[in-house]
Amino acid sequence: MLMIEAVVKPSRLDAIKIALAKMGIVGVTAIECKGFGRQLGHTERYRGAKMDVGFVPKVLLKICVKTVDLQKALNTIVDAAKTGEVGDGKIFVYPVSKVVRIRTGETDEAAI
Ligand SMILES: Nc1ncnc2c1ncn2[C@@H]1O[C@H](COP(=O)(O)OP(=O)(O)OP(=O)(O)O)[C@@H](O)[C@H]1O
Ligand SMILES: [Mg+2]
Repeated sequence: MLMIEAVVKPSRLDAIKIALAKMGIVGVTAIECKGFGRQLGHTERYRGAKMDVGFVPKVLLKICVKTVDLQKALNTIVDAAKTGEVGDGKIFVYPVSKVVRIRTGETDEAAI
């Protein structure tokens, strides 16, 4: 099992959500956040060469998937999140050692 953390543009959230639901993903956590990447936040807001670092609003999606579903989920997120502009986002993947579905007591892949 793997945890996908995808930092994406808020404007792409609905499209990503629909695409993930279509591929059978049944659980997503979305957290409003802010961040900066290589442009230090300012190119997304200013044309000028302002050198201060700015935080840009983003959404952090956390999605736990079966290992077998990882590549399809990554493709789905990239396809739905991409605009071709700077700040489209970044995806990080971590191993997950345990999942518990609280209501049923199911664990691991059955609990996802
Ligand atoms: N190395 C990193 N570690 C943690 N978060 C990051 C990292 N890089 C980017 N992020 C997060 O992802 C968001 C989007 O990053 P962004 O897409 O601007 O990356 P980038 O490397 O600058 O690529 P691009 O040149 O396409 O803009 C950032 O606002 C930040 O929240
Ligand atoms: Mg950037």
